[in-house]
Amino acid sequence: MKRSSLALIVSFVFILIASRAAAAGEVIFPENFLWGAATSSYQVEGGIYGNDWAEFEKRPGVITNGDKCGAACDHYNRYAEDIKLAKELNLKIFRMSVEWARIEPVEGRFDEKELAHYRAVIDEVRRNGLIPFVTVFHFCLPRWLADKGGFTNPQSHVYFERYAAYLAKNLGDQIDFWTTQNETMVYLTSGYLLGIWAPGHKNPVLMWRALANLIKSHAKAYGAIKLNDISDADGDGTAAAVGIVMNYGIFDPYDPKSTANVIMADKVNYFGNHLLLDSLMGKSTRIKELAPETGERILFLPEYKNTLDFIGVNYYTRFFVRPSITKPIAGMEMFTKSRAAAHSGQPFETNEMGWLIYPEGIYRAVKAIARYGVPIYITENGIPDKTAKKRARFISDHLVWLKKAIDEGVLVKSYIHWALTDNFEWAEGFWPRFGLYDVDYSTKKRSLNEGGAFYSEVARNNGLNAPMMRSVYGAESAHDDKIKRDRLFDRNSQ
Ligand code: FCB
Repeated sequence: MKRSSLALIVSFVFILIASRAAAAGEVIFPENFLWGAATSSYQVEGGIYGNDWAEFEKRPGVITNGDKCGAACDHYNRYAEDIKLAKELNLKIFRMSVEWARIEPVEGRFDEKELAHYRAVIDEVRRNGLIPFVTVFHFCLPRWLADKGGFTNPQSHVYFERYAAYLAKNLGDQIDFWTTQNETMVYLTSGYLLGIWAPGHKNPVLMWRALANLIKSHAKAYGAIKLNDISDADGDGTAAAVGIVMNYGIFDPYDPKSTANVIMADKVNYFGNHLLLDSLMGKSTRIKELAPETGERILFLPEYKNTLDFIGVNYYTRFFVRPSITKPIAGMEMFTKSRAAAHSGQPFETNEMGWLIYPEGIYRAVKAIARYGVPIYITENGIPDKTAKKRARFISDHLVWLKKAIDEGVLVKSYIHWALTDNFEWAEGFWPRFGLYDVDYSTKKRSLNEGGAFYSEVARNNGLNAPMMRSVYGAESAHDDKIKRDRLFDRNSQ
């Protein structure tokens, strides 16, 4: 048979299979798409008392129910079990963070025993066929650095760079994926502007100062990791891909007919979703609209440019925004419903923490982030769900939208669910249940929940096959209707 006719038959068969798959309402992801689950050191490990969060928790009233992180999930001792649990979900990525306070408990003194611990954890991850996806800083500072002002200290980038270099040098042979910081803007607004997280500041000046130092810290750490991690753990030609994890919030105007609301939503969108990335990718800036004149000088230095090999996107929710004089610090307020909701009569579903459930947002997020031209990894998405009855639907809805973006050409390489197990949810304490595995905090027993079981099938099938789609949506191709409905719903609310 001639080569050309063989190629024709092969492509015909391929088209046939693809169209049948589409007809059956499947949502199958590209080959080599990476499914994962996330953890973070303070939220799961337990036994961390030398950081600023452990101090912050001592203040009365800052954590719901007066919870203290304490032993958390005892992941520090049970990591092998947890990694096995991730493997049993058919996953490829194990997202974790290293606790700075363990590695450098005293300024300049690095703890080799703790380094050996993280080495053992990462070895175990790799032994189980999982890829370690490692975050250098996930919200917690060692106490000695917090005492020096944390990221408000102009020298903080020196400490951050040294710590990142130490990790890259000593663990880099096993790690190819690094993220320097988790949700820098959320950390700043919660910890330096609203004061609801450690370090508990309510001070816009400190927030801007810390932002400049965090950006500088990232850029320095980017260089340090590249320099020190020169060994390619998986042999794919990349020794260290270095990114940052950002939280993409959808910010829409509370009253879409009000110009002031529209302008405010646009400013918040720029501040929350683009300022940091613009700085790190050297994109044009609108900083003068937001910050004092000096903003441009300190946030947009040439050496920050192109310090992202990829962008980690956490996506959770949507907000409706309007200016407010009664909120002098932020100058605006946010709602879970738009003013148009009252007229459209559309229900706005919220999760147990009051966050709007808005699956189209993941599509809007990656479409917007695609402009930076580097690969995107979904590094978190999840739902607090006590009975785990809503998680399967939540995951499916988000995946349907994510796949649509991929089909439209956005380069998304992973979906990492938050979280592997239930864990300590910062100021909310232990009550929100984000885990694919439930944790009984009195016995520390883990058990797979309904959402986790569903997600393991997603990972096994590389997406949602037709029976799974039917199990979630009932009739075939109902997901298409769902997209149409959501679009309409969105139009109505605008
Ligand atoms: C994100 C954080 C993560 C977890 C989830 C629910 O903002 O990165 O630590 O708390 O929210």
